[in-house]
Amino acid sequence: MTKPEHSVSSSFGPSETLDPHHWDDIRAQGHRMLDDMLDYVANVRDRPVWQPIPDTVRSRFREQLPREPSDLSDVYAEFTNFIAPYATGNVHPGFMGWVHGGGTAVGMLAEMLAAGLNANLGGRDHIPIEVERQIVEWTRQMFGFPAEASGIFVTGTSTANLMAVLVARTAALGKAVRQNGLADAGVSLTAYTSTAAHGCIAQAMDLAGFGSHALRKIETDGLDRIDVAALRLRIAEDRAAGLKPFLVVGSAGTVDMGAIDDLRALSALCREEGLWFHVDGAYGALGILSPALAPRLAGLEYADSIALDFHKWGQVPYDAGFLIVRDGERHRQTFSAPAAYLRRETRGLSAGSSWPCDLGPDLSRGFRALKAWFTLKTYGTEKLGAIITRTCALAGYLEARVLAEPRLELLAPVQLNIVCFRYRAADANQVNGDIVIDIQESGIAAPSTTFLDGRLAIRAAIVNHRTDPRDIDALIAAVLDFGARRSSSSGGVRVLNLEQSTPLAM
Ligand SMILES: Cc1ncc(COP(=O)(O)O)c(C=O)c1O
Repeated sequence: MTKPEHSVSSSFGPSETLDPHHWDDIRAQGHRMLDDMLDYVANVRDRPVWQPIPDTVRSRFREQLPREPSDLSDVYAEFTNFIAPYATGNVHPGFMGWVHGGGTAVGMLAEMLAAGLNANLGGRDHIPIEVERQIVEWTRQMFGFPAEASGIFVTGTSTANLMAVLVARTAALGKAVRQNGLADAGVSLTAYTSTAAHGCIAQAMDLAGFGSHALRKIETDGLDRIDVAALRLRIAEDRAAGLKPFLVVGSAGTVDMGAIDDLRALSALCREEGLWFHVDGAYGALGILSPALAPRLAGLEYADSIALDFHKWGQVPYDAGFLIVRDGERHRQTFSAPAAYLRRETRGLSAGSSWPCDLGPDLSRGFRALKAWFTLKTYGTEKLGAIITRTCALAGYLEARVLAEPRLELLAPVQLNIVCFRYRAADANQVNGDIVIDIQESGIAAPSTTFLDGRLAIRAAIVNHRTDPRDIDALIAAVLDFGARRSSSSGGVRVLNLEQSTPLAM
């Protein structure tokens, strides 16, 4: 018997792809998913901010590798029942922990479109890369950087800070450091930031091979801003000891208190000393969009590089970190790595050099720029700036409520959108730590904690555009309620024996 002519193609026919057999079925399912997700965001206030995960739910995600297919509707039912209800909660206006943006329905839709295009933004000549270049250009305009500036989307500011440290290293030691390594420099390089800087700066120094001890953590004033005179002294001491200072990292919005360093003074010092001036503006840099905050960021325009997150105050869905570098050539010199298989052309798909893969370590890169593009175009920077201003006003409202309540104590002046306070109690650290967990478990709000001078603070960072005074009131009521319960149950002596607030529904 002769073989059928098309046996090979028939055994690898259309039914073997991962596309649906019936597009109408997936269309109907997709529309349901879209409607459900829009409802999820629209009705977010009806749900707890966060809820503890039952063991039975957690154990569902310890399954064996699925070898057989499942129906999409069944997989989606699992998402609906066991994933969506147990997310972080930062979509909710009561989420005030850490520094989390709320995202928007517009950003969510853009994510879907980006996934549909499935574009790889490592390189090549296609419009998604032009969209990213458009965001680079808009960011350049925001910060008043020169035309030769470069920029790139990354996961978050931790990565952007690490990349900035590497660019600063190349600027200090020249391109050859990439082949010869640090040892060849024959001198130890030192970097400087404040004690209030985010931990990812020390981690960046570690990952870049300098070691975190090469980062000098300079003391701050009472408002968590770097002491510029002390910084100057330390640089001089290190030079006298034969070390090579190369980098100063300023903060535009410290993680604990929202402090903004004197960026103008830092930039002047860096110019004088010939040091790279990087700004960690994870969330604070976008304060430039708020007419009320922009003057406090004066000096940012002189930075050599800025790291920021569009997913924080920019309300773009996670993740959308960004690095902008004043001197694009230095940026390229740090990361570009010619390879035969990445050859550039002047025509065809390999045109359009330089590519984003020349500006960072990632070759495979998703289309993060699309959700930022949709967000910036749909809302415009004035509206986004007004949201930023409002989050600071809400922090001011929370501060006023704390100051007006004798059972509460403000632990730091409110400078931006972060409020650190605590419930007055005998064993205050223990009690306030418990209060925060109680509130999180109640689903009423989600603050986080930090330590300020050894005192555990309830820390509320107002970042979400949906947060309003009701959420602040709910947080205060919850702190007073759980505080009363905790300090009486721990046998702690109440400092003030005032009337207790009405217990909250659990
Ligand atoms: C000041 C500051 N720097 C850096 C980071 C780290 O940013 P990411 O979480 O995007 O890596 C944060 C995070 O909140 C931050 O507040």
